Amino acid sequence: MSWIREGKLNLLERISANILMAGPMPKHVAFIMDGNRRFARKKHMERQDGHMQGFNKLAETLLWCKHLSIPEVTVYAFSIENFKRSKEEVDGLLELARQKFEKLLEEQENLEKHGVCIRVLGDLNMLPLDLQQVIAKAVIMTKNHNKCFLNVCFAYTSRYEITNAVREMASGVEQGLIKASDVSEALLSECLYSNDSPNPDLLIRTSGEVRLSDFLLWQTSHSCLVFQSVLWPEYSFWNLCEAVVQYQLNHKSIQDFISDVLPSRKPESSI
Ligand code: FPP
Repeated sequence: MSWIREGKLNLLERISANILMAGPMPKHVAFIMDGNRRFARKKHMERQDGHMQGFNKLAETLLWCKHLSIPEVTVYAFSIENFKRSKEEVDGLLELARQKFEKLLEEQENLEKHGVCIRVLGDLNMLPLDLQQVIAKAVIMTKNHNKCFLNVCFAYTSRYEITNAVREMASGVEQGLIKASDVSEALLSECLYSNDSPNPDLLIRTSGEVRLSDFLLWQTSHSCLVFQSVLWPEYSFWNLCEAVVQYQLNHKSIQDFISDVLPSRKPESSI
């Protein structure tokens, strides 16, 4: 199963997408793709097959985002906390990632055609060397594409990312490259793994859990948060539309807050 799917929306989906797109649309959506194992249990399948279905749903969701003209997506694919799961499950998730990034390398033409830039956010040193290498190849291969952006958070937690950014600034001060007084919110944002991206407009978590689990804590301070009960592998186009409607209902108050109270902040998505 490939990352970049071709396909059209059906008539009803197309009409609904056009109605939605008459309103303000998020330009950057982040997903906590939760519920793969519960889905596997519910369907009496192997846990690894639940994660595989989770990947397939990611590919499908990217296609829906393309149809909704959402140019940037960030997903939580593997948390640093996930290393604490059983060796069998960790190995399975790393193997799935290896296979999918290898498959991505075969899709060069398609990625170029759609202008897809893939970034991987996290501490890649925590990963096996062969996986680091295939990820690096995929990132380098797509780095100049600029129509849509997929940020895959892998070996990632937000507190680790922020700590890393603080450490970088401290090292800059120690080496005399910057002054302590140069340390600012803007500089810290620049030191995050996500420094190339606008902040997400909308963050969606599936499976009914209502917490952020150490995902994009800095970047989502003013994003619209939507928690949905559906398990990730069962996510549908209509679930995505419902989340976008939530965003539209809250759009004005979020924008007013950002421009009135926090005029100097990095705007939510500015693409
Ligand atoms: C959370 O559900 C999901 C994960 C820890 C893994 C998410 C990974 C994918 C969807 C595959 C993506 C792969 C690539 C290469 C991008 P869970 O396992 O915590 O399930 P549960 O909440 O039901 O226990």
